[in-house]
Order: sequence, then structure tokens, then C-alpha cells
Amino acid sequence: MRIAIVGCGYVGLVAAACFAELGHDVICVDNDREKIAALNNGILPIHEVFLPELVQRHRGRRLAFSDDLSSAVRDGQVVFIAVGTPQSENGEADLSYFEGAVREIAHSLQGDPKIIVEKSTVPVYTSEWIRLILAREGAEASSFEVASNPEFLREGTAVADFLYPDRIVIGADSERTCEVMRHLYEPLTSGTYPRAASALPGPASAVSPPRLIITSTKSAELIKHASNAFLAMKLSFVNSVANVCESVGADIEQVCEAVGADSRIGPRFMKPGIGYGGSCFPKDLLAFGALARAHGCELRLLDEVARINDEQRQVFLKKVRNALWTLKGKRLAALGLAFKGGTDDIRESPAVHIVNSLHREGATVVAYDPAAMDRARQALPPAISFAQAAYDAAQGADALLILTDWEEFAALDLDRLRRTLRHPIVIDGRNLYSPHLMLAKGFTYASIGRAQVSPISPPSALPARGALTPGPRPAANP
Ligand code: UGA
Repeated sequence: MRIAIVGCGYVGLVAAACFAELGHDVICVDNDREKIAALNNGILPIHEVFLPELVQRHRGRRLAFSDDLSSAVRDGQVVFIAVGTPQSENGEADLSYFEGAVREIAHSLQGDPKIIVEKSTVPVYTSEWIRLILAREGAEASSFEVASNPEFLREGTAVADFLYPDRIVIGADSERTCEVMRHLYEPLTSGTYPRAASALPGPASAVSPPRLIITSTKSAELIKHASNAFLAMKLSFVNSVANVCESVGADIEQVCEAVGADSRIGPRFMKPGIGYGGSCFPKDLLAFGALARAHGCELRLLDEVARINDEQRQVFLKKVRNALWTLKGKRLAALGLAFKGGTDDIRESPAVHIVNSLHREGATVVAYDPAAMDRARQALPPAISFAQAAYDAAQGADALLILTDWEEFAALDLDRLRRTLRHPIVIDGRNLYSPHLMLAKGFTYASIGRAQVSPISPPSALPARGALTPGPRPAANP
């Protein structure tokens, strides 16, 4: 089929490359001419595994990039809108780019009827607004249909998420639209794509073809917000339980393993840490809450989820103070700036918030991230310095802080690290190491939801500074 995708951001680019991979002819358009010129020279604006391979495989054959929306829409049978829907002042999604795209599309509806598909994360009623705006701009009702096809891809694994999804949701209000949308995804739902010799590898968990779930457009719009809100809630729940674990001397990893073994709960998305970040959860939670309020419903649960998430950064900062007493003049190595491993995205990154706070408290921070340093340099104060490797950051530092779950941070040479640090203190916001191992290697090691371990027992009278909840101080040494 011939597809036009409006917006060359994370979602648009990945969808474009993946639809080309599934055998469709795709034109991906953006009004940022520099971005289009770069894409036409094979330069990608984002760091995403497998995306360079797919773009190289299909560019100039089934995949094109253009700034000419009109001709892309005229040639397309299906038009996806994948432009940004950032957060506005009042928490609602700012749909002005989206509306702008709809207006432009309205003036290019020629030839056979098109299916206009919402791919960006948008609130309920967006499909109604699309219909209304198209009509106001003079588009004939017979020249288009509207569908919702929310995207569930995660940054860092976006290509695999697209090609090996758990489910595909199509919100459509007519049988013809459903048929066309079903056809688009047929290589995935029939299982033919994974069997192709050239197919990209999928995750081990992708054992059967995805479920295709057909809903009304309103339900599809709500599914995306409800899914992200539920996942964020799961994380804030786990982080809250982690704090209780610390207070009572239990171990969050053991608790999560057993809780997650209940098939009604599931083991995934249960890793405690310094809180969620990124361009989706924080924004979508606010947007979902604002939408509910606008329709007379209060989702107070989501306010609490966001509050717990913000507080989790404070929990981590208190661990740093607990380990180091005062921060002024201390040299700290910060491993990780991206909001999670596998991406260069620092939007709403808890790591960046933490580095900023430590700097404000007078610490000297030397940061390292395998992919996000260019972006972080622009967002952080000039006093933050950047190292070229984890061990360079650690050189002479009073403590090492692990802030992002990059695989390479879970595989550090611990003997070398101990020799490199001024003091062998590691504060791990992602639980990448076992406390037993760290103790055996001679580190004072604090993590999330587990007892701190240390080869040096502090005097028993020393209180835990800023413990969030009163409770027995975790054993300094097992
Ligand atoms: C999220 C959703 O997972 C996707 O399904 C959705 O399509 C996307 O938002 C979106 O709305 O576009 P993403 O933000 O890329 O994807 O990243 P996740 O892998 O979900 O991680 C979100 C945050 O939660 C990260 O800061 C991560 O470090 C944190 N996290 C995740 C944990 O702290 N623990 C976990 O077990 C999992």
C-alpha cells in the first residue's frame, strides 16, 4: 500500500522505516527542511537500534523523505499523523501541530478517499475534531475516513516493538477502514514477517503473532493513555514498596520476583529506580488527568503516581547525602544522563534532575553517558564536566552514582573501579549490582529498596540523614 506519514520524529520515523520493511511504499514528511535534507543523506536525528539498517535498506526504494506534504498526501492511500503533541501550560496535550497537519491534509485530499490515522498520542475526541476541521477546511465527507492506531513503542527498542508487538490496536468506525488497516499489518498478524529470511530479529518473548484488537476510535484513543498511566502506576507502586523494604530491612528484588510471578501481575516493568522519565509518561499522565477532569472525572490516583515519582529523586539524593555527609566540594562521578538505557533522549530524565541538584548543592559532577552527552551538554550548567568513559568519570571521585541502566554500567570491572575512585562508594539508582558482590569487592554500596552494605561499619549512634520514613536503620553489614 502507499503510505504518507506526517512527522519525522521518533514515532513517525520508526513507523515509516518499519512499514517499508513490511513491504509498503512510504513517504515520510516533515516541515523541518534541514531534517529532511539530513535524512535524504542517510543521517538520522535519533539514536535507535536497527533504524539505520532499515533506513539504509529501504531509502530510495520503498522509503522516501520529503517536505512536500501535499504531494505525499495526494499519492498516499493511508495518511498517518505522527507529529508532536507536547504538554501545554495546563497539563493538557498541545494539539496545535496536530491541527496544523490536519488543515494541510484537508487541502490535499484528491483522488480516492484517504484514511487519516492518528498515530501520535492524542486525547479522546481527537478523531471528532479531525473530522470537523477537515469539513471546515472544505474537504468532502466522502474524501476521507478517520482511524486511530496508537503506538506502543519504547525508545531504545522501538523498531523491535513495532515489528514484534504484543498487540495492534485499531480504532475505526467503518468496516472498510478496518479492512485497509488490517491489510497494512497483515505481515505481522499472519506471522509471515518473522519467517522472512531478511526479517530483523525479535525479542525472545515474541513467540506468537500479535493480537489485532479492533475498537471504536474513542476506545483506541483512551487505550494509549490508560496503558501508559497503568505502567507509570506500576513503577510508582514498586518504588513505594522499595522504600518500605528499606525501612523494614526487606529486599525489593526478592519481593518483586515473587509478586511478579503471579500471572495476574507479571514480572515486567517491575524494576525499582530513581523514577520514570522520558517524553511520554510524565506528559501523558498529566494529559490523561486533565482530560478526565475536563469531562467531570477525577483521576487523583495519577496525581499521586506523579508525586511519588518526583519524590523518588529526593530519595536518591538523600542516599548520596547519607553516604557522603556534606556535598560541597565533593567530586561525584555520574554514570548515565539519558532517561533510560539504550537512548540518547534526556527529556524529563531523572538523571539530569539529580545531576542538577547535586551541582546546586555544591558538588563537582563529572558525568558520562554512552549516547546522551551531546544533548545533556546543552541542558546542564557549564560547570558539569563530561568524561569519555565510565572510568575517566570515576577518576579520583568521592563516590560513583549510577543513574541510567545502560548495559555497560552493569558490566564494570569492579577491581579497576575501586582503584580508580578516591573512596570506594557506589550509589546505584538502578540496582545493577548485587550488594553481596559489591561488599565482597570492598565497596560501600547503596541501592534502591535493599540494605546498604559497607566494609566500614559507621558508629552505631550515627543517624541515617534524611530517612524518608522512620524505621530501623538498615544493617550496615550483613
Ligand atoms: C513508554 C511506554 O513503555 C511505551 O509503551 C509507549 O509507547 C511510550 O512510552 C510512548 O508513549 O510513546 P518509553 O517512555 O520509551 O515508553 O520508555 P519505557 O521503557 O517505558 O521507560 C519509561 C521510564 O520508566 C524510564 O525512565 C525507565 O527507566 C523507567 N522504568 C521502566 C523503570 O524505572 N523500571 C522499569 O521496570 C521499567
